[in-house]
Amino acid sequence: DDAECETRIRAARAALGKRCVILGHHYQRDEVFRHADFTGDSLKLSRLASQSDAEYIVFCGVHFMAEVADILSRPDQIAILPDLAAGCSMADMANLVAVERCWRELATVLDPESEVTPVTYINSAADLKAFCGRHGGIVCTSSNAQNILEWSFGRREKILFFPDQHLGRNTGYRMGIPLEEMVTWDFGKPMGGLTEDEIRRARMILWAGFCSVHQMFRPEHIDRFLEQYPDTRVIVHPECSFEVCQKAQYIGSTEYILHTVRAAEPNTRWLVGTELNLVNRLAHEVQPQGKSVHFLSPTVCMCSTMFRTDPQHLLWVLENLVEGHVVNRIKVPDAIAAEAREALENMLQVA
Ligand code: 13P
Ligand code: SF4
Repeated sequence: DDAECETRIRAARAALGKRCVILGHHYQRDEVFRHADFTGDSLKLSRLASQSDAEYIVFCGVHFMAEVADILSRPDQIAILPDLAAGCSMADMANLVAVERCWRELATVLDPESEVTPVTYINSAADLKAFCGRHGGIVCTSSNAQNILEWSFGRREKILFFPDQHLGRNTGYRMGIPLEEMVTWDFGKPMGGLTEDEIRRARMILWAGFCSVHQMFRPEHIDRFLEQYPDTRVIVHPECSFEVCQKAQYIGSTEYILHTVRAAEPNTRWLVGTELNLVNRLAHEVQPQGKSVHFLSPTVCMCSTMFRTDPQHLLWVLENLVEGHVVNRIKVPDAIAAEAREALENMLQVA
């Protein structure tokens, strides 16, 4: 049962001592989150993974995060994902075949190698990060996207941004790039469904990917809430749609959202557009300061793949480690890891 699972996780954890570090993303459920040695957003957790000395890095998050931990850690360190089915549906919206096809199609209109910097959101497979490494590109997260786009525009005049159109559009717009200079690449269509002229005129080419959780938040949800409580502050993740971000006073990563609400004056009201586990925990935490925190959507929307990591899976990997067995290792092939590391190190240097 749950209590027994909890006790056994603590025992296995204690037996492993400093040989193991547990990293927990802010979207993890409480029963898993409470076991994390470090918690954070994607950027913070990648830095922690690169700085950790532990033999085993157990990543309570999703697949691309454990891949990053493997790429950035030493070769003798081992990254583990408690449930291998914990993927990211947005990351899956771009794959190497489709991105290479896009690059080839762009080459019929312009010279991508000198005119386009490929930028991949960290929510992507390792071979796409390697693609960016090969083509002079870079990785970004939701907390450094603006710095990364500035770096990219400093090198080439256009950006190909994948997989999340919303992070790309919201960040570009905040940097002063008008919407008319952004186009959406429909990866199901030849030439992304765009004309040569549209491609030539664009400064940002945005892959048509999106997060199925954040797309559930709608501008009318904000309007309805504000009618009832006009003094509410609206804070959202940049994976939300453009229309939602336009109605928010604060936009940023999960770590930014937590920090902003925690640092605010007491007795303030917040409407938060990001995953439910984070919002529930934050609401509970700041309630004693008189702050009220509300979930942006009237319906429950959780990240079902983040939710896959349950205490049973965590226990299973830890007890196996205690017995000397590594299960659910995430190992990126060396050749891919080397090129992906280049794109990730570009990011860590810029941000
Ligand atoms: P953060 O980097 O803000 O934690 O975001 C990761 C993510 O997957 C958001 O959906
Ligand atoms: Fe991927 Fe969205 Fe889940 Fe984040 S919330 S891990 S972007 S599916």
